[in-house]
Amino acid sequence: MKILEIKNITKNFGGIKAVSNVSFDVKKGEILSIIGPNGAGKTTIFNLITGFYIPDDGKIIFKGIDITKIPTYKRINLGIGRTFQNLRLFKSMSIFENVLSASLVKSEYNLLSSITRNKNFYLKKSEAEHKTRKLLEFFSLDKKESYPAISLPYGEQRKLEIARALALDPELLLVDEPAAGMNPSEVIDLIDIFHKIQETFKTTIIIIEHHMDFVMNISKRIIVVDFGEKIMEGTPEEVKNDKRVIEAYLGEEFISA
Ligand SMILES: Nc1ncnc2c1ncn2[C@@H]1O[C@H](COP(=O)(O)OP(=O)(O)OP(=O)(O)O)[C@@H](O)[C@H]1O
Ligand SMILES: [Mg+2]
Repeated sequence: MKILEIKNITKNFGGIKAVSNVSFDVKKGEILSIIGPNGAGKTTIFNLITGFYIPDDGKIIFKGIDITKIPTYKRINLGIGRTFQNLRLFKSMSIFENVLSASLVKSEYNLLSSITRNKNFYLKKSEAEHKTRKLLEFFSLDKKESYPAISLPYGEQRKLEIARALALDPELLLVDEPAAGMNPSEVIDLIDIFHKIQETFKTTIIIIEHHMDFVMNISKRIIVVDFGEKIMEGTPEEVKNDKRVIEAYLGEEFISA
């Protein structure tokens, strides 16, 4: 079953064709990767799916609903979550508070109940705290929960951002370069984490990544973009042997590696 259908989307910035007539489907429960050179249009595709930008042309269908033009918050409510290429954590807030802020949004904790401090307020708050704790355990960040986010090594900050995105219970999670800045053992750990996320939360995941070992290991299917266009779609095996992909992105040395 398709959870997301991208139909001929195009986005121009002035004279730059950031995304040009791109189409692909995402199946429920799969891990799909998007690869391509710097400036190829990968993050722009995420920004179109999440509503940061509206496409000049084309359609985006999520769970059968046309979301092409609806605002970002409505897409979040429908079940689309993301992380950012440049991390957007609340740096001086604690690790716990970073995730709690998202858990509270989802728990429908609101201003009125926080002012009146009714029974519902305490119930929602304790549910959100419980969920936050579980997520931090899942990412092995629970021992450091009171530290400020900024105190974490870079790789763990990336994990924290994924934890915060999951606190909103996304059915579809978009992750922009999760392995950037990670050391090799953190990358191996990250492959495990994504498989665990998929099993535990049944989340469908789209990953943008330059780290090829990671991509080849984690994805069932890969989309390759270059100069805003989709140039190939296939299994890791098909992609790494495709002449156009090697020329545009992977380079000859990848074959012999
Ligand atoms: N808001 C914007 N205004 C103008 N140009 C933009 C904007 N966002 C993206 N672009 C341009 O669109 C093109 C695609 O950018 P995008 O960030 O999607 O690439 P990317 O594939 O994510 O690259 P990278 O691997 O470096 O992150 C680039 O030429 C970029 O400069
Ligand atoms: Mg990018």
